[in-house]
Amino acid sequence: MNPPRVVSKPVCDAVELQEPGISLDSPMTSLGTYRGGLPADAYISSHYLEQERQTVFSQYWVCVGLASDVANPGDVYPTDVAGIPIVLVRDRNHSHHTEPPPLRAFHNICRHRGLQLIEQPCNVTGRIQCPYHSWTYRLDGTLNGTPHFGGYHQDSYRGFDRDRKGLIPIRCEQWLDLVFVNLSEDAPPLTEYLQPVIARWADYDLSLLRRESREIGLECNA
Ligand code: FES
Repeated sequence: MNPPRVVSKPVCDAVELQEPGISLDSPMTSLGTYRGGLPADAYISSHYLEQERQTVFSQYWVCVGLASDVANPGDVYPTDVAGIPIVLVRDRNHSHHTEPPPLRAFHNICRHRGLQLIEQPCNVTGRIQCPYHSWTYRLDGTLNGTPHFGGYHQDSYRGFDRDRKGLIPIRCEQWLDLVFVNLSEDAPPLTEYLQPVIARWADYDLSLLRRESREIGLECNA
């Protein structure tokens, strides 16, 4: 009899989560019975999805977009990771004028009442403004304006610490044109994490990579 396949811890956890109470030894879920990859449930089960969010997408580096999609100062690009809304922001200010302004990632959530700040990719000409009560944030995430927060025509109140109410930053690094974020903040440096890929592609001149749009139509169920 062949021994069970060795699988990663997250996948083991995901299988156990598929049906509470069913272990890896169950005839339904034992990976020893899967010869062609993950079971179909891994692709459609909400249990798997939640487990993957918790054990993979919220723990490690996740590629969320292309830096060239946020190339210009003020460009913002909303997306989500592990079900959490985030936004990439290209700052307008930078210290080294030979380099592009910094690209940052934040939780796409207003610090007042939690409204999502950015709905669509766009260019912000001034501040990021919340559509609910008009709090504004600079492109580096710091809180700028809180109109009438302390009462009519009073933007603050005693004890309100606006320095602690900026957008919550997310660790964000870039490799080639690919932008990665790490929600857990404790993943290894991106280049270390990607080392197997970097080593595998070491013989290619990746500086020659160019972005190209291509549309492919497929007749299939959707
Ligand atoms: S929720 Fe954003 S300003 Fe109130």
